[in-house]
Amino acid sequence: MNFKETLEEKTIRAKEVLIKYLPEEKGFQKKVLEAMNYSALAGGKRIRPILMEESFLLLGGSGALVEPFMAALEMIHNYSLVHDDLPAMDNDQYRRGRKTTWNVYGDGMAVLAGDGLLNLAFETASSAFDLAKSTEELKWVAAAIQVLGKKAGIYGMIGGQAADIEAESGGQVTEELLLFIHENKTAALIQAAMMIGAILAGADKKAVLAMEKAAYNIGIAFQIQDDILDVTSTLEVLGKPVGSDEKNHKLTFVTLHGLEEAREEVRKLSEEALFILRSFEHKNDFLVELVDSLITREK
Ligand code: IPE
Ligand code: IPE
Ligand code: MG
Ligand code: MG
Ligand code: MG
Repeated sequence: MNFKETLEEKTIRAKEVLIKYLPEEKGFQKKVLEAMNYSALAGGKRIRPILMEESFLLLGGSGALVEPFMAALEMIHNYSLVHDDLPAMDNDQYRRGRKTTWNVYGDGMAVLAGDGLLNLAFETASSAFDLAKSTEELKWVAAAIQVLGKKAGIYGMIGGQAADIEAESGGQVTEELLLFIHENKTAALIQAAMMIGAILAGADKKAVLAMEKAAYNIGIAFQIQDDILDVTSTLEVLGKPVGSDEKNHKLTFVTLHGLEEAREEVRKLSEEALFILRSFEHKNDFLVELVDSLITREK
């Protein structure tokens, strides 16, 4: 199997793991459950759960302990997008080639669907305690839940989204602020993916820190590429509107440095990440190719 076929297979697997934990659409709250599934099952690259499982494998992990966390992180990612698209945030009408959740279910239901996904994520991650086969594994699950909470929260994704919104209204535009936004709104969930994969494989502190650093680079590069595509792509290819950042007066690497420098930065950051990933005792060629492929991704 070549890289593309393997990636397709792993994308399907990530979706199947997620589906196991998504709610049945029934009861008086059926509408919000539909809205949750509508957003979570819309497609998407599933890059975070894939990075998590590949990091788990790189560090010698085996077994099902990682599965609830793969689903949980993808739920959190999807909730972040449901809220990010709201009229009160980026006000976008399309995502992954279909109408955004608020555009179908209304703002109120979209807010609740996001909240629902966030809570279900922690319920799901906690279910890994039931799978643990030793005291050691119980400790790994506890450590992984802490990383998930921190990286998704005010010292992670939410913190970055908050700074991103504030930066829309001008004020001081500095490199430091731009990096803060990228590191938190985007890199934090990618760090959660790779650190949790390592933690659940029983990796030591040094390895978890190395994964945090590699994922920092991958995350910043990922957001810069997202901002490049927001300028250079089309709605058809991207599945979400282009020009969203300009419309919202977003501070991005592209607005600050231009396209050429932005492309160069994606390459540089990714190379550094690849260096770290190649330096582990065990190898994961698929993970290396995956990170490499993100440099030139078109969606
Ligand atoms: C979009 O993330 C939001 C950013 C952090 C740039 P993805 O590009 O991973 O979105 P999907 O899940 O593949 O649609
Ligand atoms: C948002 O960045 C990242 C999160 C949702 C945390 P963007 O606003 O650039 O993401 P897209 O372009 O709408 O996917
Ligand atoms: Mg946004
Ligand atoms: Mg957006
Ligand atoms: Mg964007």
